[in-house]
Amino acid sequence: MADLYQFRTAPEEPLDCVYVLYPAGTDPIADIAFDAKEKRALRAKIKNLAPRGEDGELISGECPLEIAHRITFVGLGDESTLSHGKLREALRRVMRQATKNREYQIGLAVSARIPGLSSDESRRFVLREASIADYTFDKFKSKKNEFDKIDGLHIFPLTKETEEDLELKLDSVRLLRTAIQIARDLGNRPSNDLTPERLSLAAKEVADGVTGLRVTILGKKELQKDRMGGILAVGQGSAEEPRMIVLEHRPKKPKRSVVLIGKGITFDSGGISLKPAKGMGDMKFDMAGAAAVIGVMRAVAELDLPIKVVGLVPTAENMPSGTAIKPGDIITTASGKTVEVDNTDAEGRLLLADALHYSARFNPDLIIDFATLTGACVVALGHEAAGLMTNDDELQATLRGLGERVGERVWPLPLYDEYLGYLKSDWADLKNSGDRWGGAVTAGIFLKQFVPDKASWAHLDIAGVGYLDKVHNGLPKGATGFGVVLTTAFLVDLLK
Ligand code: BES
Ligand code: ZN
Ligand code: MN
Repeated sequence: MADLYQFRTAPEEPLDCVYVLYPAGTDPIADIAFDAKEKRALRAKIKNLAPRGEDGELISGECPLEIAHRITFVGLGDESTLSHGKLREALRRVMRQATKNREYQIGLAVSARIPGLSSDESRRFVLREASIADYTFDKFKSKKNEFDKIDGLHIFPLTKETEEDLELKLDSVRLLRTAIQIARDLGNRPSNDLTPERLSLAAKEVADGVTGLRVTILGKKELQKDRMGGILAVGQGSAEEPRMIVLEHRPKKPKRSVVLIGKGITFDSGGISLKPAKGMGDMKFDMAGAAAVIGVMRAVAELDLPIKVVGLVPTAENMPSGTAIKPGDIITTASGKTVEVDNTDAEGRLLLADALHYSARFNPDLIIDFATLTGACVVALGHEAAGLMTNDDELQATLRGLGERVGERVWPLPLYDEYLGYLKSDWADLKNSGDRWGGAVTAGIFLKQFVPDKASWAHLDIAGVGYLDKVHNGLPKGATGFGVVLTTAFLVDLLK
């Protein structure tokens, strides 16, 4: 991926191309810190090329300034309909065009404001997405990826942006970009490459790359000692042993205590309640929640936030076999609650139940879990927002508002007590799946039974947004890293 560094007025060598992104009907360069002479030259060029700024438009010509050989105007369409998705799409178009034209050093001049966002929020979004717009996953490709050739991305400062200002923003962008990249790379790795054991190793590597992050891995023995019957049950059908990854960031005088939990099913075949063959390969993404948590933990450590943050990743492979759990089986979770396994494909909640119970020992005042938990959530919200279920109305409002601003949307679903009735078991304390209806919320109400008393808790069902089966909203196919930006921003805001 491209290096990310800023560029001021005179680069040592001219850029191959400078890309100017702007909404239709606006002045493309009004907000960019060019001097009067440069602006005159650029205005003449604009007159000559006559770009209209329409969505999808790309118009190139010779650059009238010495800073670059070429200049390309990139239309963002109508300003009032500008969105996170459209901006991401435009940035991807830039990367594709630059690659096609063999431009290795490119500049970005972007003046765009997303309706509803402050100019600072818009700016940070643009910088962050620009930094990751060239993402591809080519670990298993003999021929490496299309965007690899771009090796310099230069950001043009805005008129009202000092050098220090931009530098600070880029620092935070670099850090988030790394975290997102970690989450996407983990998410995209196939299940033969990323087993629960390898996920544990990956978490260790992430922790090794930064100070202030400690990793402990609970293996089968430790899980047995802590009676984590949920995690053990889910993993018992696989040749790969389940684990729990514990990542801890413990600053000296923490202001808050937060636990983040990520579902880490490295492959979900459904188990004995086997899934249909079509699309089953996508179940390598069933650890997208785990990936997000590991990415966030990296960012938290790098930011050295004065919050105690513990990341819990229960991880297992859900497989059918002679040792697998079977429908009708009754398991005892770490909390002591017994669960009738009505459907072995409702495995995520079994392992999350143990992690939620385990979280109590860290005395969290706040718990957020991330899980590709239900197809029903995808039916409800498609790929536009994660389902948000919580026991705290204020937390709900905060996450919703923040999600809209950072471009990782979450939408509330209710947790009415009545839903618990859907999980009534004749033989155990509850069963792990209900009938067809309300699939996302019955999963949520199941989890709620295992949340430690008094903790605020939010469950994010990211089944529709954690990975995509095609490019959408300017996000790449495959793992999206959903949750990394939202959660990091949320934790930073907790300190305000
Ligand atoms: N990992 C799946 C949920 C999922 C489905 C994620 C589609 C992404 C796309 C989960 O473990 C699962 O299988 N859930 C079942 C629950 C049901 C058996 C109660 C589902 O959604 O069908
Ligand atoms: Zn699953
Ligand atoms: Mn499943």
